[in-house]
Amino acid sequence: MACSDLLLSQYLNNLTKEEEESNRRTYQNLSQLVSTFPRVEADDVWKLYRHRDGWCSDLPSIVSAMVANQHFKARPSDLILTSYPKSGTTWLKALLFATVHRKSNVNPTSPHPLETLSPHQCIPFLETQVYTNNQIPNLDSLPSPRLFATHIPFGSLPESIPGSNCKIIYICRDPKENLISWWHFNNKLRAYANMEPSPLEVTFEFFCNGASIFGSLWDHVLGYWKEHLERPHQVLFLRYEGLKEDPRGNLKRLAEFVGCPFSVDEEKGGVLDGILKLCEFENLRSLEVNSSGSTEIEGSPIQNSVFFRRGGVKDWVNHLTPEMARQIDEITESKLGDQVGLTL
Ligand code: A3P
Repeated sequence: MACSDLLLSQYLNNLTKEEEESNRRTYQNLSQLVSTFPRVEADDVWKLYRHRDGWCSDLPSIVSAMVANQHFKARPSDLILTSYPKSGTTWLKALLFATVHRKSNVNPTSPHPLETLSPHQCIPFLETQVYTNNQIPNLDSLPSPRLFATHIPFGSLPESIPGSNCKIIYICRDPKENLISWWHFNNKLRAYANMEPSPLEVTFEFFCNGASIFGSLWDHVLGYWKEHLERPHQVLFLRYEGLKEDPRGNLKRLAEFVGCPFSVDEEKGGVLDGILKLCEFENLRSLEVNSSGSTEIEGSPIQNSVFFRRGGVKDWVNHLTPEMARQIDEITESKLGDQVGLTL
């Protein structure tokens, strides 16, 4: 079997008209329910709704999370990559996919799937690629291990995920970098829509108040951190800065955690280093698929290039005033203390 045979797109069922109509009604009913929740406008694009886990945007997060909760049946062998937006999800998707499927590519002369597909096509987001756009796919025929990603906070995950004891891999990042990365990303999306850029001060204000599309970053991190402490064999906790500092050590940890450790022969044979090289920022960014291709997200094509900006650390010093940085560090300190290692 080739890695590409493991992609979700090949398992989306052809639906009857009745099934399509029933799916559409499911989304419509939940959207109507969400529209009754308290609401705030985060800027002129994102509408945020208040729910038990904090603020979340209407689509993709809350409605999709609700549909996923009703329909996603996790298997114990599933691997779920979780993160707050802009924490390094794209990189980790590539590393996880290449690691788990390193033995699936039976034809070494054919290109690796990551050379022709975006990491987001290899590991789809539950809320923007699987349960979105009135879609409720039947995922039963996907072979194990199934790989999915999500930005949904721990408390709003489909119940079958913690219930099945499947493995969760979480990645977080210095919140100041999340903010700057998100601000650039959002402004790129705005530019595609011919909209003016959003001022950093506005994005900063909402970010600090936890009014972001997947709720408060700090609550998000804390939710997964607590779960990691309680169930360390089920929830792996990684940091973007840690991956940058020690990619080899962290990739080995990841491989061991998901049950496919690198053998001594593989290490000697350069398999681990090959994966790291394949997934390096410059390598992925320069591939044609990532520089000029697009991925369907929420039913519309998004340029893959928006997920590759700079790929470094400490870019916040180029954008945040010392006062803004101090405010964010203070929130990090008060919400997380020194437990997660994010107060840098
Ligand atoms: P910057 O905007 O700071 O460059 P996410 O994947 O969660 O959306 O996070 C995006 C961030 O990860 C962006 O950060 C992006 O450039 C960076 N990134 C993407 N691919 C990467 C890779 N292979 N290695 C390191 N960083 C990567």
